[in-house]
Amino acid sequence: MEVRPTPSSAPTSSGIETSPLTPSIGVEVHGIDLSRPLDDATLAAVRRALADNSILLFREQTDLAPAELVAFSARFGPLEHHVVSDFLLPGHPEIFVVSNIVENGRHIGAYGGAKWWHSDLSYMPEPSLGSVFQCIECPRDGGETEFAGMYAAWEELAPDRQRWLLQRRAIHDYAWHYATYLSHRKPLTEEQKARIPPTAHPCVRTHPETGRRALYLSSSLVHRFEGMSFEESRPILDEVNEFATSPRFVYRHRWRPGDVVFWDNRSTIHRACPFDEQGARRRMHRTTIKGDRPFLELDPSELDA
Ligand code: OGA
Ligand code: MN
Repeated sequence: MEVRPTPSSAPTSSGIETSPLTPSIGVEVHGIDLSRPLDDATLAAVRRALADNSILLFREQTDLAPAELVAFSARFGPLEHHVVSDFLLPGHPEIFVVSNIVENGRHIGAYGGAKWWHSDLSYMPEPSLGSVFQCIECPRDGGETEFAGMYAAWEELAPDRQRWLLQRRAIHDYAWHYATYLSHRKPLTEEQKARIPPTAHPCVRTHPETGRRALYLSSSLVHRFEGMSFEESRPILDEVNEFATSPRFVYRHRWRPGDVVFWDNRSTIHRACPFDEQGARRRMHRTTIKGDRPFLELDPSELDA
């Protein structure tokens, strides 16, 4: 049975009306039509709600056209053009198509990917702030997207592991990810690989808008910890990833056509759930907003205790 949240009766102090999706992460935002330009106050409230809640759901945006998805997303920052250019929507290179559909013998979107926990574009020196994902078509069963909240995961992590992670950087590597997980697709070209060299980021980041710490790791895009081998790194990465994706940190979104979910890549990781990729149709449009270089504010005395 699907549980639908009841809207809170009064608008929140930030000026938009929201209701929680889970006790820890995610809110549904009510009463906003994303196809219309947002005024500055609403924009600021949406931005704040994203930073605080990590996931925003907007239902019934059925008529949102590609240009309108792009216009809404671009209010939050410059939009990325994904390095895998085969799956950009013709005429709208800011839209990355995620789909299992084949038309005229050609995959119209990225297929068979995103099944492993990750944060979008974490392998870039300035990774994505957030992604906006619109459901155009989805299967009756399966094909949900799961999100894990990295504020809470960080806060509940064992103090010894926290202290260890505070002092380390992780190496995010898309070419390694692609070769390991996406071997069913056409390999990356040398030119594409040259655009995405491995990049080190702190394992914990200070969120630039809330000042809160969030775990910034995922076992599918992080190849290893800096200064450690792949073999040494793996068990620790797997341990942290398993903890961070415990059910109490996770929101699973069951899609309906017209849903738009805006997630914060600085404080969540996500993955796609399985569905019948041969028999069912799923088509999603994604924009990816550029963010800042991750940083960690740390007082060295914290490590003395
Ligand atoms: C993505 C992604 C998940 C999904 O497009 O960034 O991870 O459910 N998609 O398709
Ligand atoms: Mn993703």
